[in-house]
Amino acid sequence: MCGRNACNAQFSWVVYRMTEKKFELVDPATQRKAQLSVRNGTIGPAVVDISTINKDLGVFTYDPGFGMTAATDSKITYIDGDAGVLLYRGYPVEQLAQDSSFMEVAYLLLLSELPSHKQLEEFGGNIRLHTMINESLLRFFNGFHHNAHPMAMVSAVIASMSAFYHDTMDIHNPRHREIFSHRIIAKIPTIAAAAHKHSLGQPFVYPQNNLDYCSNLLHMLFAVPCEPYQVDPVAAEALDLLFILHADHEQNASTSTVRLAGSTGANPYAAISAGVSALWGPAHGGANEAVLAMLEQIGTVDNIPKYLAMAKDKSSHFRLMGFGHRVYKNFDPRAKIIREMCHKVLAKLGRTDNPLFELALRLEEIALKDEYFVSRKLYPNVDFYSGMIYSAIGIPRSMFTVMFAIARTVGWVAHWQEMISDPGMRIGRPRQLYTGATRRDYVGINKRSEKTPPDLRSHN
Ligand code: CMC
Repeated sequence: MCGRNACNAQFSWVVYRMTEKKFELVDPATQRKAQLSVRNGTIGPAVVDISTINKDLGVFTYDPGFGMTAATDSKITYIDGDAGVLLYRGYPVEQLAQDSSFMEVAYLLLLSELPSHKQLEEFGGNIRLHTMINESLLRFFNGFHHNAHPMAMVSAVIASMSAFYHDTMDIHNPRHREIFSHRIIAKIPTIAAAAHKHSLGQPFVYPQNNLDYCSNLLHMLFAVPCEPYQVDPVAAEALDLLFILHADHEQNASTSTVRLAGSTGANPYAAISAGVSALWGPAHGGANEAVLAMLEQIGTVDNIPKYLAMAKDKSSHFRLMGFGHRVYKNFDPRAKIIREMCHKVLAKLGRTDNPLFELALRLEEIALKDEYFVSRKLYPNVDFYSGMIYSAIGIPRSMFTVMFAIARTVGWVAHWQEMISDPGMRIGRPRQLYTGATRRDYVGINKRSEKTPPDLRSHN
């Protein structure tokens, strides 16, 4: 039997472990009890089911940032953050990165098994069938200013797809869901490349379906009508590997956003667009862009101590971008692969003299010996080196997060499919701890005394 104080001295909640499968939470003030069952997954820590806690005890649980809360069952991706393990449908990401391709990984994530030759051929054919986007959708780009951020354009155009494919989109029809998944995976590279071309003021380049997924993307990004364009196989291979590493990462902020939006029954293109927006932030997929900006800001190795000091100073709002992770507290297995790949790609493309790469290596080395980063288990994450590779390929910084979004679309779709096909699906709806004013009566404007409005820059 075990017990512990949960909130304050007045109320000593007691948790008992009844059996391997059950906890009991007791409120001594009222003697009300909640039986909390334990649920085991196939691997990883068990979860305590608190779904009856409000009915039994009249309380909710409090978990800002959802760091301790499993919102769903899932069979797609497993992460052990302490051991640095990442599995897609059970397969270690290192093995997939070594031997697989992005299309094969997409099939695996969506359909749960590795494909045969025939299945992969068929799947690739279905994706190729849908690479073009409706011409009217293409014209949407003209409404954007040339310096619009590509993530803003991509998110808006994907949301607009719900207006184009709305009438064939019954989310409860598995065939409709399948067509949706092919369409979005096929069209997002075309949309991403169109955003890039619009920024440059160059004509859009149509997809070429004889090319593989990543070569086609490079072609749409870099070809121009007046010159022949040959896809660099080194660049295509590097992109394919980055896409494998970014394809899914279980219930991260953008995937949870897609699930939350999708749980209302919203059009799935709108849900994916919400995911793109969530990914954009620098704490998530926007970190790859922020890393290069940070390295340029640091400038030289001599400046590293100054910026490390800023990263440790809570009042500075400066963080070491590309460092730290909510789940990985050992190392990010994707970062290890990308770091190695970065050496190879830069060597193959003849860019080993990249001063930012040298700076990144030194920054990593110094930070990994620093007590602040060691004690908080802050290691380089997937985004610390990915921008370096994108840059070497010729992809501009503003497009880095778009690249991440293309790859992660596969994960978003897999999770959306899993959620919609679950008969137990419920609308996502978190609770809150209300700390605002208690009930008060309306006062007419002439009778009000002037109060200083709250400073919205501070948390109050
Ligand atoms: N630089 C300096 N301090 C940091 C950093 C950092 N990059 N990351 C975390 N910390 C500190 C943080 O201040 C806190 O210190 P203390 O305990 O003294 O208050 C402690 O480490 C724990 O941090 P946290 O904010 O509670 O951790 P979190 O799990 O909420 O945040 C994170 C995870 C990824 C948002 C955060 O580490 C971060 O902002 N990193 C930089 C942005 C980044 O690289 N994001 C990409 C993540 S990987 C790509 C993806 O999957 O999206």
